[in-house]
Amino acid sequence: MRMWWLITTLAISAFICNSPVYAYDNNPLQDICVAVNDSQAAVFVNGKICKDPKLATADDFFFSGLNVSGNESTLFGFATTHVDINTMPGLNTLGISIVRVDLEPQGLVPLHTHLLATELITVLEGTVYAGFLVPDPANFFKSRLFSKILNPGDVFVIPQGLIRFTNNLEHKKATFLASFNSQNPEAIAIPSSIFASEPPIMDDILAKGFQLDETQIAELRKKFS
Ligand SMILES: *[C@@H]1O[C@H](CO)[C@@H](O)[C@H](O)[C@H]1NC(C)=O
Ligand SMILES: *[C@@H]1O[C@H](CO)[C@@H](O)[C@H](O)[C@H]1NC(C)=O
Ligand SMILES: *[C@@H]1O[C@H](CO)[C@@H](O)[C@H](O)[C@H]1NC(C)=O
Repeated sequence: MRMWWLITTLAISAFICNSPVYAYDNNPLQDICVAVNDSQAAVFVNGKICKDPKLATADDFFFSGLNVSGNESTLFGFATTHVDINTMPGLNTLGISIVRVDLEPQGLVPLHTHLLATELITVLEGTVYAGFLVPDPANFFKSRLFSKILNPGDVFVIPQGLIRFTNNLEHKKATFLASFNSQNPEAIAIPSSIFASEPPIMDDILAKGFQLDETQIAELRKKFS
């Protein structure tokens, strides 16, 4: 009897010890959130505090204007209109947003990432070449390119955090919607964040990292600053 009790106890404790832990930390909603003791110096997650629900109106949950293109970016030939926490306050804490992207002929949304969100691309007009890089878990120096040529009605998903691009290969405009599972998907543009950081990354680090010489690095800095 005592032996049976011992085995049962051991079995139960083994089960409990091997059980997964169900508590988890939330995903961050911002890049950094340094703790402060002074409430006067504090900001809230994404810099937003909630309105008294009694004061909320339908307009807090409404945005108008996704039917027209945003302003064109001259360097790369794309324009964006964001329906996110900054333009639709009702999105706060809902974990969803949408962006309209207009690509000029040959326009490019350069290599970038959204650390906080998966991106679902739906093409409305034109032809968009979209791709993302999946790191090779076995080799730090390698990745695989997953890419597709998308036409109106085509949908492509880009997993959270991966480096991606979208490019208009045609000679007419292209438009797509990018939906995100974040209220504030925040883009990091790879070229400019590397070559136009403030303060700058040391030339030597960039030259070694990209296997270029310092003159070429200086040229790249000039292009992105
Ligand atoms: C916050 O205040 C406590 C008590 O005054 C102090 O011990 C602690 O170091 C402070 N933390 C920060 C991040 O300032
Ligand atoms: C876009 O939608 C707004 C709001 O409904 C409307 O005022 C505007 O005329 C529309 N623009 C175009 C080009 O359809
Ligand atoms: C485009 O830019 C102009 C001038 O900067 C601005 O007034 C306008 O609101 C912008 N339009 C859109 C759709 O962002």
